[in-house]
Amino acid sequence: MTEAQSIDQVQQMLGEQGYVCGRALATVVFLSLRLGRPLFLEGEAGVGKTEIAKALSAALGRRLIRLQCYEGLDASSAVYEWNFAAQMVAIRTAEAAGGADRAALQTELFSDEFLIERPLLEAMRPDENGAPVLLIDELDRTDEPFEAFLLEALSDFQVTIPELGTIKAPEPPIVILTSNRTREVHDALKRRCLYHWVDYPDFTREVEILRARAPEASEKLSREVVAFVQALRTEDLFKKPGVAETIDWANCLLALDVIDLSPEVIADTLGAILKYQDDIAQLQGSEAKRILDKAKQTLEETP
Ligand SMILES: Nc1ncnc2c1ncn2[C@@H]1O[C@H](COP(=O)(O)OP(=O)(O)OP(=O)(O)O)[C@@H](O)[C@H]1O
Ligand SMILES: [Mg+2]
Repeated sequence: MTEAQSIDQVQQMLGEQGYVCGRALATVVFLSLRLGRPLFLEGEAGVGKTEIAKALSAALGRRLIRLQCYEGLDASSAVYEWNFAAQMVAIRTAEAAGGADRAALQTELFSDEFLIERPLLEAMRPDENGAPVLLIDELDRTDEPFEAFLLEALSDFQVTIPELGTIKAPEPPIVILTSNRTREVHDALKRRCLYHWVDYPDFTREVEILRARAPEASEKLSREVVAFVQALRTEDLFKKPGVAETIDWANCLLALDVIDLSPEVIADTLGAILKYQDDIAQLQGSEAKRILDKAKQTLEETP
């Protein structure tokens, strides 16, 4: 499939990749494809932001190019670098051969052969399957100068390499940016994008996600797991469990042949859902049982 014709179709094609997508998210994905606008996704950790880009590239049959952001990321690591070591070798070889033509050597040293393409440049190269999906992941980890640079790159999809000239994408890539909101991303960048806050899924959708991602789990166990995790998210924790944790936990329980949840099983497997000692300590003793009771109560009230 190369084109999504409707919101329903977006929902369906992501579903075929095992990505359970609500109507609101499917709508912004559809609009982003239709209007050719970057999609900016914000949300808590482990709610499926990165996975959307993966599912979308698989569904559209496009290449996925990922730019993982980190503190100190600069334009050269994001766009291109010259292969300095290989250039040195070429210079030495030319010198050893004697009488090297300096001008020819200069041109050769700054040709495609010595260019290391980084994600942003790669994403601007033509691809026989159509423009790639460019995932700019965890943008909040970079600093403002890089954001400003990105703003430029995203507005005209072209890169200028002094020695080679300007390279322009024949067709702009499908851009997805994600942030965990450890800091606010600048308004100017957000303005260029369509925005969606990826929230924790509701009960029904999270059970559906387990059906897709932990299919061996029984319906009963899945419902209990989801009800418990959802109850846990209402507690005052340092780090609430995301969907990734729900899936991990279900798989741990399956590996242990657990049929249904009990306070003992929960205590033994808490490390799959909570990753901070303070949070784990908070669930010791009767707390796990209290939350489990609360979860079972909601299960009885949910059809
Ligand atoms: N709606 C969904 N449908 C299917 N799987 C999902 C969904 N949401 C999350 N997942 C699963 O949860 C896991 C975590 O998702 P992902 O890595 O995309 O989270 P994230 O939001 O990028 O988290 P982080 O902020 O930590 O990077 C993945 O394995 C993904 O398969
Ligand atoms: Mg991610």
